[in-house]
Amino acid sequence: MTVRLDRRLKTILGMVRAQGRIADIGTDHALLPCRLFQLGATDIIATDIADGPLERAAQSVKLYGAEKCVKLMKCDGLDGVPPRDDVIIAGMGGETTADIIARCEFLNPELHLILQPMTRDYFLRQRLYELGCEIMREETAVVSRKVYTVMLCRYTGEKKETDLRFRFLGKNTDEAYLRKQINTLHKMGRSNKEYELLARELEQERTAAGS
Ligand SMILES: C[S@@+](CC[C@H](N)C(=O)[O-])C[C@H]1O[C@@H](n2cnc3c(N)ncnc32)[C@H](O)[C@@H]1O
Repeated sequence: MTVRLDRRLKTILGMVRAQGRIADIGTDHALLPCRLFQLGATDIIATDIADGPLERAAQSVKLYGAEKCVKLMKCDGLDGVPPRDDVIIAGMGGETTADIIARCEFLNPELHLILQPMTRDYFLRQRLYELGCEIMREETAVVSRKVYTVMLCRYTGEKKETDLRFRFLGKNTDEAYLRKQINTLHKMGRSNKEYELLARELEQERTAAGS
């Protein structure tokens, strides 16, 4: 039985190198690790900080017969996780995601980080560049009219400042994502004029581009 993934999880999956050593942090249902196993991955660590999600993960691993290739671990972020080629951190807030990366002990240029923040993606982008990481590409996934961005990142060691526009758009050029970010900027603009100015600038550019 093939693991069924929604568009968000499929987009994340599309960025993972199944032949490498993989970690899925905050795995919950462990659907991604189980699908990766079905695609031939043999070395997957699926972690979670809480017991309930780990129980769900164990059920999935058993259901799909992935016990030999998917190892479950209870830990905070990457604490105690051995070096990996691809690390997935999906479905968590931007701050938690950034904090987990900041504490990673095996950041290196070969490592791929596949990130899907649920909130505060602008904060995550800022922290990524402060930590010496870069975003290689971003893709949008829309599920039940909710718009998510998925980032493929790596460590370069070059720490950089980011401007407000990059923090909000990153490398995502998708129209649905642009609309979502403009709405967020308008909301945040009620207390900070800088955000409102960027929202208006982006709207003008959209109009000029005829979208
Ligand atoms: C909303 S679920 C996301 C599940 C899955 N990754 C996805 O994208 O569908 C978030 C999961 O992250 C776990 N989590 C939150 N903070 C964590 C941390 N610091 N380390 C590991 N897991 C964490 C939660 O227990 C929860 O199971």
